[in-house]
Formats: sequence, structure tokens, C-alpha cells
Amino acid sequence: MERTRYTLAQRLLHWVMALMVLAVLAIGLTFMALDYRGTVETFGKQATDALYKYHKTFGILLLVLTILRLALRWRYPAPPYRPPLTGFERLAAGGVHVLLYLVLIGMPIGGWIATAAGGYPVQFFDLNLPGLIGKDKVLSETLFGLHGAAGLLPDIRGLEGAPPAPFPPRRRGLGAPWGPL
Ligand code: HEM
Repeated sequence: MERTRYTLAQRLLHWVMALMVLAVLAIGLTFMALDYRGTVETFGKQATDALYKYHKTFGILLLVLTILRLALRWRYPAPPYRPPLTGFERLAAGGVHVLLYLVLIGMPIGGWIATAAGGYPVQFFDLNLPGLIGKDKVLSETLFGLHGAAGLLPDIRGLEGAPPAPFPPRRRGLGAPWGPL
């Protein structure tokens, strides 16, 4: 029988990841707005160190969860949209999903390499993970530039005042894990 919504594990993963993305982005945008020095002046050195540590930790966790999510999606393919999409809408939705997966994989890997190339620790909770690359200031700055630019993508998408989409909403069962569709 064809499923009408995602499995419970997929729905839970979706919402846990959504919260983690919000947290990681909020911290990243704080760094972008205040810079290291401004963050220390505003929150103090200890809190700033914790923000860096948990930004990196949750970013790496997001990479792991994205891989798990792709594996689950391969095992349990997405249910159909209701009402169905037109060919163009299907293409557009598929394209956006691929882009989101690329961001969710590229951001953590880029952040990891940029951090290591800058000579900073790649923290995962209280562990320091291997940097995987030697010190390279130019590479680090270039990658951090891309890291910041990609971080702005979801924010632009969510700008207040964006015109309503010219088509009715479609669902395929990613609503709250405990509730109806
Ligand atoms: C989905 C995961 C991630 C997202 C959405 C994200 C997003 C961001 C954003 C928007 C910024 C601000 C960029 C700027 O200041 O121009 C930032 C900064 C930073 N990110 Fe990430 N990040 C992620 C994962 C990671 C990971 C895994 C690491 C390292 C292991 C990392 C390390 C850093 C560092 C060190 C900064 C500060 C850069 C600076 O002070 O110039 N990020 N991140």
C-alpha cells in the first residue's frame, strides 16, 4: 500500500534538524553581525567560546543527521504530494530540495575545512576532531566567505513580505510528528 506521509522517524528528524539549523544559523549570524571581538564584548569570553563550540558541534551533528536523512529517504521514498504537482512545480520543488541538501552537506564540510585551515580547533562537544588539512590562511578566508554567503540563503527565502506563492499549498505529511498532516 502506498504511504500517505513520511515515517515517524523521518518526521522527528525533520523537526529536530529544523530546530538545530535555526540555532546554528542564529549563532552564525551573530558572528557575522558582531565579529569575534564584538561577540566577546557583548556576551563575554566564556559565552563566546561556548557559542563557537556549539556552532561547530551542532553543525557537525547536522552533517551526520543529513546523511541519516538521505539514507532514510532512500529506504522509504517520499510519499506523493496532495494535491499533485504540475511537471514544472515538481521540477522546481525537486531543485530546491537538492539545493537544501547541498547546503546541509556543504556548510558543515566548508566550516570544518575553513576552521582547520585557519588553525582553529574543530570542536565536537569537548573533543577536538582531526582538521584533515594543514594551515592555509587564504583558503580559510575564502571558505569562511562562502560559508557566510551560503548562510544567508535561507534567510533571504524567509524574508517578511515575500509575495504569497501563486499556487495552493501541497502536503506530503511532514507536519508535526504527533499530529494530523
Ligand atoms: C549547517 C551547518 C552550518 C551553518 C548553517 C553555519 C552557518 C554559519 C554562518 C551564517 C556564519 C557567519 C559567517 C560570517 O561570519 O561571515 C558561520 C560562521 C562560522 N562557522 Fe558555521 N555554519 C555551519 C557549520 C559549521 C561547522 C561544522 C563549523 C566548524 C566545524 C563552522 C565553523 C564556523 C566558524 C568558526 C565561524 C566564524 C567565522 C568567523 O568568525 O569569521 N560552522 N557559520
